[in-house]
Amino acid sequence: MARRRIIAGNWKMNKTPSEAKALCAELKDLVKNDDVDVVYCVPAIDITTVVEAVAGTNVQVGAENFYIEDSGAFTGEISAPMLVDAGVKYVIMGHSERRDIFGENDILINAKVKKAFAAGLKPILCCGESLALRKAGTYKEWIERQITWDLDGVTADQVKELVIAYEPIWAIGTGETATADQAQEVCGFIRELIAKLYDQATAEAVRIQYGGSMNAGNAAELLSKPDIDGGLIGGASLKPDFGKIVNA
Ligand code: 13P
Repeated sequence: MARRRIIAGNWKMNKTPSEAKALCAELKDLVKNDDVDVVYCVPAIDITTVVEAVAGTNVQVGAENFYIEDSGAFTGEISAPMLVDAGVKYVIMGHSERRDIFGENDILINAKVKKAFAAGLKPILCCGESLALRKAGTYKEWIERQITWDLDGVTADQVKELVIAYEPIWAIGTGETATADQAQEVCGFIRELIAKLYDQATAEAVRIQYGGSMNAGNAAELLSKPDIDGGLIGGASLKPDFGKIVNA
């Protein structure tokens, strides 16, 4: 079954609203491609600006984070209904920066996956190992544990709509990309894991991205691999290079 490619930018903590508007204008013609889902995951404060800037184009907007309650006394947080109302379609969760810097664990990430689906948002669920685990050779066990926890209680029909991003931490922002074979090995492993946890049809439907120093030069080779259905792109999503990745 052919899975639709999904190329998502994760802007992280970059771009003020006025800079975001300018970047959308700069990328507008470069990211055109009717065969690919193109998503800009942007800082919360940029969401309204970016939703307006990409209206009528092929670009969809994602958030980088949210909290699991709908409303209430949660100073500083934004909720899934707020994102939906603002025009957001996707939301990132489980990113290593949120796990490592902000202490998010798999119990919270699991709650986020379920809440996002319940609210009508598509999760981009990130997983990935540290350099130490890569060197120790235990990275697959680590990723199996992350995904098994994060998908606890999530249905097969939901997983068919899920995007999983494999992002080895040692490749994020370092310029050191996993080789296409290394990325394929883990993305293929994740698909087998979904088949084991669910069934073959679910495994064939779930979309799996690679993330970590993906750029205009290495995207085509990574995306040529059978189990890599797209990319989650940090640094290169802030530049015209992003258009080259969309069209790789
Ligand atoms: P870089 O593309 O900057 O390595 O970041 C990858 C990433 O963390 C995307 O979520």
